[in-house]
Amino acid sequence: MNLHKMLADKKTVAVTCCQFGDTGKGKFVDLLAEWADIIARGTGGDNAGHTICLKGQDYIFHLVPSGILYDSYGKINIIGNGTAVYPKTLLQELNLLTSKGLGFNNLRLAWNAKLTLPQHIIIDRLKELKGQGGKIGTTGKGIGPVYTDHTARLGLVVGDLLNKDEFVRKLRRNLEDKQKIFANCDRQALKLIMNHEHLNHGLYYDSRQFINQEAIIEQYWKYGQELTELIADTDTQLRQARGSAKILLEGAQGLLLSVDYGTYPFVTSSDCSPGGLAKGVGLRESDIDLSLGIIKGFYMTRVGCGPFPTELGGIESGAWCNNGSTNQEQEQTMFPEPNINDQDKFNQGIAIRLAGNEYGATTKRPRRTGWLDLPLLRYAVACGLTDIILTKLDVLNKVEVIELCHHYVYKGPDYNLGKTKLKSGDKLMKAIPLAEVLQYCEPVYVLMPGWLKPLGDFAKYQDLPVELKNIVNYVARQTGIKPRILSIGPQREETIFI
Ligand code: GDP
Ligand code: IMO
Ligand code: MG
Repeated sequence: MNLHKMLADKKTVAVTCCQFGDTGKGKFVDLLAEWADIIARGTGGDNAGHTICLKGQDYIFHLVPSGILYDSYGKINIIGNGTAVYPKTLLQELNLLTSKGLGFNNLRLAWNAKLTLPQHIIIDRLKELKGQGGKIGTTGKGIGPVYTDHTARLGLVVGDLLNKDEFVRKLRRNLEDKQKIFANCDRQALKLIMNHEHLNHGLYYDSRQFINQEAIIEQYWKYGQELTELIADTDTQLRQARGSAKILLEGAQGLLLSVDYGTYPFVTSSDCSPGGLAKGVGLRESDIDLSLGIIKGFYMTRVGCGPFPTELGGIESGAWCNNGSTNQEQEQTMFPEPNINDQDKFNQGIAIRLAGNEYGATTKRPRRTGWLDLPLLRYAVACGLTDIILTKLDVLNKVEVIELCHHYVYKGPDYNLGKTKLKSGDKLMKAIPLAEVLQYCEPVYVLMPGWLKPLGDFAKYQDLPVELKNIVNYVARQTGIKPRILSIGPQREETIFI
């Protein structure tokens, strides 16, 4: 099997993550972009960080679709209506492309994409500061407040950048709504947040009004002028292309972070399921001919707060990763010879993080690591994601025993689910994606021998070590997934089609 055979009769293909993000969407969207005519993002904003490794260069994109390296081949890249667009980030990415001699002539930006404004970023950061028990561990990119404003009918869209009177009217109304928050917040904290580089080093700060409307108007007008050529009615473009052009939809985040399907409330604020993705580019889920889900094989990561039953090192690991100061350099120094087979689970988690380079592409935060959770995967499959890409297998090359969470035992207080009630001691095969339930789920593992070999020399699935194939088959049988592609390294060619 190869890429073109797999997609021979397909017209619209989606790539979304079945876990908590960072599973390799960037690598696979870039890989599949060779097949596509149009590549489109439809969810999230610059909270996403999608990495492409090509010829020794790493490209990390936050808003620009991962098909952009094919721009010079005439392929169209679209940032769809469902995304939250911070013009500063987008322009930085365009400058980066230019500096690397890469073009974006065929990049289009939906006029009805949601516009990220300074107040969104400020409110996101203020909330996280106050956080205490309610902290989500967001990326601080304003994502929650942007989508909140959208559903509250207070939001602005990218098209507003081009119509100054409308922009000013909507901005004033939006800021009026935020006055109470600013008036009651900690001034010092506000000032500190607004002085951040992401907010143009205090450009929008006003000591009396808290936020300088005129500065926003002026700066966003400039942004609009710079982006004019890109802005278009991409919904219509995609609807017209549907069924004739080859369309590749690029998910952001992951199903377990979806505001509708994820481990609520520890989620992002868009629906990053295939349905949400299709809607975010003006299509319907039924337009997708092949929905490819991505998981890491056979571990998982999570950035920020929220339940993670299989986390290696449990609460200790969560606290370590979220303490605000742990970083890659520090872990490399503290653990110069990490042992990926360490009997101490906290240490084993760090060793997997170091082996997999599991540090956020957007915030550089350490990603919490844990074993593959089959109850959560069964849940993702039930949401309609069966055709699976397994990535990062090479990270576990030296692991002697691979642990897979087969089911949970619920150990919490009685929890009423309507017709059924969860009681302590209940066995759960499929996860219930509620933080208040998951926090009491104890994983029960099956142990399988690792393959203990580098995978670089294997070109065909049939030739792979039997231990590896046994695990793939076991996961497939247990969850009903159809494994389609394996990834054994970050480069395009480190890919095995099944
Ligand atoms: P995304 O958010 O889903 O696009 O994923 P990220 O880019 O945030 O994180 C995935 C990381 O894993 C990136 O650094 C990729 O280059 C890298 N990666 C992707 N596939 C593989 C693989 O099979 N093996 C290894 N070792 N790294 C991979
Ligand atoms: P990609 O597309 C991993 C997480 C944050 C936080 C929660 C809410 O690279 O896979 P937000 O800023 O969205 O309000 O944060 O969601 N999160 C991600 N985790 N990968 C991502 O994107 C993420 N985008 C958001 O860490 O826990
Ligand atoms: Mg990422």
